[in-house]
Amino acid sequence: MPSPPPPPPRNSLNESFMGNGNHAPQQVGTKQRHGGGGGFPRLSASSKALVLLPLLLLAFIFLFMYPKEFELQAMLSACGPPAAEPAAAGVAVVRKPDFRLLIGVLTRADLYERRHMLRMVYGLQLASPEEPLAAHVDVRYVFCRLYKDDQRVLVPLEILVHDDVIVLDGCEENLNGGKTYTFLSTVARLYADEPYDYVMKADDDIFLRLPQLVASLGEMPRDDMYYGATIPCDSMDPFREYMAGMAYALSWDLVQWIATSDVARNHSVGTEDMLTGLWLRIGDKGKNRFNAKPAIHDYLNPVPVDQCEHEFMPSTIGVHRLKSNPRWAEALKYFNFTAGLKPSKFYKID
Ligand SMILES: *[C@@H]1O[C@H](CO)[C@@H](O)[C@H](O)[C@H]1NC(C)=O
Ligand SMILES: *[C@@H]1O[C@H](CO)[C@@H](O)[C@H](O)[C@H]1NC(C)=O
Repeated sequence: MPSPPPPPPRNSLNESFMGNGNHAPQQVGTKQRHGGGGGFPRLSASSKALVLLPLLLLAFIFLFMYPKEFELQAMLSACGPPAAEPAAAGVAVVRKPDFRLLIGVLTRADLYERRHMLRMVYGLQLASPEEPLAAHVDVRYVFCRLYKDDQRVLVPLEILVHDDVIVLDGCEENLNGGKTYTFLSTVARLYADEPYDYVMKADDDIFLRLPQLVASLGEMPRDDMYYGATIPCDSMDPFREYMAGMAYALSWDLVQWIATSDVARNHSVGTEDMLTGLWLRIGDKGKNRFNAKPAIHDYLNPVPVDQCEHEFMPSTIGVHRLKSNPRWAEALKYFNFTAGLKPSKFYKID
């Protein structure tokens, strides 16, 4: 940046300021004296000169060196309310989401503590100012019908606070008893007026990294699409069998087809992820398929049971089988999830 020009004599400075601006320095001073509530109520005349002189100098330098910017600023303020300025002020520009994704976490009503964890984990990602998502993502916690008196009080309490619960009618709380079929067909009806592009079925023991998931899904076709981690674990071929139940996504047209097809209705009870693959195979659906392995994977056990397990990676989209708080902590630590915590006198975390 070039150094500013040497300060001119005071008279020429005043002239040049008054020639361009609307306010003579004397008027500013008068206002302050009469208003009483101005920024410098108790300053003597010489102190005022001391304060004003550098300000005038700055104004002069600004006008001299950045005349274009001055015009732009003047135009913006002439345009009226500050709402017209967000781009100039550096405020994030709200843009249309690339696509809409519904994540249904199929869980059981009694798992209040797990939901607390999931809400923190997904809530932080949905609200992250550093990493705004390119897609509109909604996370919903999905149960079958409540069957205990305490649930009929505690779940409404959650709904009052979070409003992110779907209680399905007509299924038993057993993942292989038709819950996925009921979930998908219910969702097709519930959101018929405002459809999503993709619906993901997720377990309550998978940690999904939403920026990575959104980036990956964003590349996919929006129709006839079946996305997930292929089974069997040693296969990378998405057309061979089906996507593992930990987290798989279907495009909206497939969700609608499942909701209306006899094929799905006639085969709704059984191993849920296998059935979804079966419906699509019988119905000749899901021509667009994507295997997200190894980025969607199982937590690595000390003695791995299969090739779906491996260590966390910077490119991980989802880690499954986080069955205990220590495992959640391990995953959240690896992914720097709490790195944004500010130091404070209110806590000390070593
Ligand atoms: C579904 O089941 C009904 C009743 O058993 C049968 O009539 C129909 O053909 C079946 N449809 C399919 C596609 O399997
Ligand atoms: C976590 O932060 C460390 C230190 O800044 C960095 O080296 C590492 O790549 C980050 N890990 C991930 C998964 O982003």
